[in-house]
Amino acid sequence: MTDIRLGLIGAGAVGVLHAQAARATSGVRVTAVCDLVAATAHAVAAPLGAAEFTGHRELIASGTVDAVVVNTPHALHTGIVTDCAAAGLHVLVEKPMATNSEDCTVMDRACRDAGVVLFVGHIQHFLPPMVAAKTALDTGAIGPLLAVSDWRSTDYRPGSRPDWFFDPAVSGGGVFINIGTHCVDRLLWLAGRRALAVSATAAHRGNTRAGIETDVLARLELEDGIVGHIGVTSTQLPARDELVLIGERGAIRVARGTGATLHPDDGPGAGGSTVLAAESADDVPRAFRDQLAAFAEAVRGRQAPAVSADYGRHVIEVIEGVYKSSAAGERVGLPAGLGASLA
Ligand SMILES: NC(=O)c1ccc[n+]([C@@H]2O[C@H](COP(=O)([O-])OP(=O)(O)OC[C@H]3O[C@@H](n4cnc5c(N)ncnc54)[C@H](O)[C@@H]3O)[C@@H](O)[C@H]2O)c1
Repeated sequence: MTDIRLGLIGAGAVGVLHAQAARATSGVRVTAVCDLVAATAHAVAAPLGAAEFTGHRELIASGTVDAVVVNTPHALHTGIVTDCAAAGLHVLVEKPMATNSEDCTVMDRACRDAGVVLFVGHIQHFLPPMVAAKTALDTGAIGPLLAVSDWRSTDYRPGSRPDWFFDPAVSGGGVFINIGTHCVDRLLWLAGRRALAVSATAAHRGNTRAGIETDVLARLELEDGIVGHIGVTSTQLPARDELVLIGERGAIRVARGTGATLHPDDGPGAGGSTVLAAESADDVPRAFRDQLAAFAEAVRGRQAPAVSADYGRHVIEVIEGVYKSSAAGERVGLPAGLGASLA
């Protein structure tokens, strides 16, 4: 089996994680790294013996890769993905897929027309505690799902991350399109249902530039009457990352610090629980390895992309709905799905 020659476009924080994953994944080899900042490209490329570029078109023209991972600021995803597709390269594009759903459709069409894989990097699908929660839910551990609650806190003050995250023309928004994307993704994926409508409130507290939102409370109405609540805050409350699935016969909780736990109604009593997957320091590296392995399987034509373009677009539709609802102060219906149900 010849190695898939992989190019990294964007070698910042998450580009490094993909590079580490590739080192540990058989059948995949990073052969080129591109970053606008030559020193950033060099830092990732040199230890791998990969070619270095400062423009993605030069990387494409070099003929050194079969597939790419796009890790650039959000608004740049679409142009880079369509250029790569036109050159016959398979693509793993980081979350959020784009800053609007039209761009998602453009990318999807470009990759379909070129006959290349488009895989969206929703890492939650590969985190071991999330996978354990999904398996328990789908095998009936808490009976039919009724509701999902998800809370994330994060520091979103200027200086907490690179400047482009605070420029809505580049990032597409604030805390919700960046961090909330993970919550929307894991809620839809775990529930296995599309969202039909959204009601949301966003705060634009004065601690960031350009008026991006700093805090969001959102209520999602999913297929089959399932309700999801998402709270994302950049207040300086104690750190929180906690998802709870409520079913007819119990609950599953996934929380930072503890991992995934099962709380069945007929279990060991109030507060008692069974550990489904304890948190491990290897969870994030492992998720990046498993995601890359799934991408490689899709590139080799052995399985469909584990996270499809249609799915990535639906995540963006929900985010658009959240922004629209909070601006209008009313419930917003979402477009009917272009593809199959998520169940
Ligand atoms: N899956 C996850 O858990 C996860 C975590 C963090 C970030 N992300 C996503 O990964 C992407 C990158 O985020 P990041 O945190 O690595 O940001 P970052 O700012 O650390 O890195 C982005 C890099 O892209 C480079 N760049 C900018 N324009 C470019 C261009 N035209 N061509 C080539 N390189 C260019 C920048 O110089 C920078 O080094 C975003 O979509 C972000 O939301 C995903």
